[in-house]
Amino acid sequence: MNDNGSPPLFSLLDQSASSIAHRTDILFLAMLLLCGAMALVLAVLVIFFSVRYRAGARVDRSHPPSNARGLEATWTLAPLLLFMGIFVWAAHDSVAARRVPADALPVYVVGKQWMWKIQHADGRQEINELHLPVGQPIVLVLASQDVIHDFYVPAFRLKQDVVPGRYTHLSFTPTQVGDFRVLCSEYCGTEHAAMLGHVVVMSRTDYARWQDQAPLPGAATDGPTADDDSPQRLGQAIYQRLACASCHGADSSVHAPSLQGLYGSRATLEGGTRVVADDNYLREAIVAPKEHPVQGQPALMPSFASQLSEEDLQNLVAYLRSIGDRQASPSTALGAEVAR
Ligand code: CUA
Repeated sequence: MNDNGSPPLFSLLDQSASSIAHRTDILFLAMLLLCGAMALVLAVLVIFFSVRYRAGARVDRSHPPSNARGLEATWTLAPLLLFMGIFVWAAHDSVAARRVPADALPVYVVGKQWMWKIQHADGRQEINELHLPVGQPIVLVLASQDVIHDFYVPAFRLKQDVVPGRYTHLSFTPTQVGDFRVLCSEYCGTEHAAMLGHVVVMSRTDYARWQDQAPLPGAATDGPTADDDSPQRLGQAIYQRLACASCHGADSSVHAPSLQGLYGSRATLEGGTRVVADDNYLREAIVAPKEHPVQGQPALMPSFASQLSEEDLQNLVAYLRSIGDRQASPSTALGAEVAR
């Protein structure tokens, strides 16, 4: 089914459950038909001429053409235009699929040998299961704790590498209620084939009911707070635990840059590179601060790589985002990253 409820014209798989699934299938069908037609024309001509002009065949060979510019131009330009058309079409769809809508709901995903750990914006956590409301634009912020994984949902026609040392993103809108397979699509060790999960897409009412039933992690234990375990709240606890404010605080004698309003702002690095303080930049600035020093700032900050797991880093970045530029949502900063 597509957006308006009618069955799709063509579907690669029996499930077609995201905003881009149908367009991807049509593009694939167009490529298949075009390449198939080209291969067929070439094969037929090769066989036809091989038989007709074989040695000893009694055919008229008296006036071989010495020049056929028009014909050559046609068989060169026609396929060129057709395949460039496919390229433009695919590039358009690919760019559109990477655009993150302003109202996209962020969900944090960490791949590790061999499971998917999910954290929702309200703090709810899941393993190998991702519950989402239908019709809601989503942006997955993906990180890996160890090796390269690949988050793959065939029913959504979506696949994104999950790479250690950086964040990648996947944006989509689930359009169909149901239970859809998540596969790891990058060989990542012994249990790679068992690194499976589910996306459970629910109606708005079912999703609200699920939210009521799924416990917040802090509710059962003595977490930082029992009532709010959102990523930014957990990130704030890490910020306090690591005493970041002793250098970055307003009354610190070290004069490290203030983190208030940093997210989404622009900075110039040593060497003149201009960067946007987005998820990836902030992650790098925490785990490898000496690699990319900001122009005019002494590179004093030590690396915190050994003290923070990928989930800690996601939470800390979520906290920095929450105290960042009020104009910059994850989507605008992600947009800036894509546009770079
Ligand atoms: Cu993770 Cu393959």
